[in-house]
Amino acid sequence: MGKLMIINGSPRAPKSNSRHYIQAFLSGWSGPYEQYSVVEKKHASCLERLEQCSDLLLVFPLYTDALPSGLMEFLQAALAQPPANKPKVHLVINCGFLEPEQNDVAVDMIRLFCERTGCPFVSCLRIGGGEGFPSTPFMGMVRRRLKKLAAAISRGRPIQMKVSMPLTKGLFRKAANRYWLNRGQAFGVTQAQMSSLEIEGR
Ligand SMILES: Cc1cc2nc3c(=O)[nH]c(=O)nc-3n(C[C@H](O)[C@H](O)[C@H](O)COP(=O)(O)O)c2cc1C
Repeated sequence: MGKLMIINGSPRAPKSNSRHYIQAFLSGWSGPYEQYSVVEKKHASCLERLEQCSDLLLVFPLYTDALPSGLMEFLQAALAQPPANKPKVHLVINCGFLEPEQNDVAVDMIRLFCERTGCPFVSCLRIGGGEGFPSTPFMGMVRRRLKKLAAAISRGRPIQMKVSMPLTKGLFRKAANRYWLNRGQAFGVTQAQMSSLEIEGR
């Protein structure tokens, strides 16, 4: 088993759902690994360390149907100086919407990155309703898949998986509405203000 580089691509790294998914992954991973978060902004040193790794695991959220800008910066740095050892690339991507398929365009972006750098795209776990899992008993559903992913990476076998909150769309919408209305209340923002296109009075 080679060494694994795990990259957290979330701009909220220390408080991110991606961090919870990384921790759950690590409970099933027994090999050597390194961790990096794109908010550290030390891309060159991470790319240097990546040369010693056989595998790269990118864990990140979907932002506006694409990749968060900090992760884009890292990938651009890697494109300018593609890893000579061609690590195998694996993904754990999570999005706010219920459907894991919302992540597909972002997954294709990573596939394109792999084509351009010559790194093989190997495994992927797409998570729908990714905000909900870490704080609920449903997290076990993701944990099981992350363990499978860890086993597949260590055996060098590709695996493609997806998972979503086991809720109907109606229930999910109700729970999401309740969550955002409570958040609004906490910040003194009304439902009408949240529904308006006006930003800070402009
Ligand atoms: C600026 C922003 C853009 C987002 N865009 C999408 C989106 O296009 N589709 C989606 O399903 N979720 C979207 N989300 C929800 C995130 O993917 C979701 O909150 C995720 O769990 C955040 O993960 P993190 O805590 O690891 O950053 C967005 C969230 C933010 C803050």
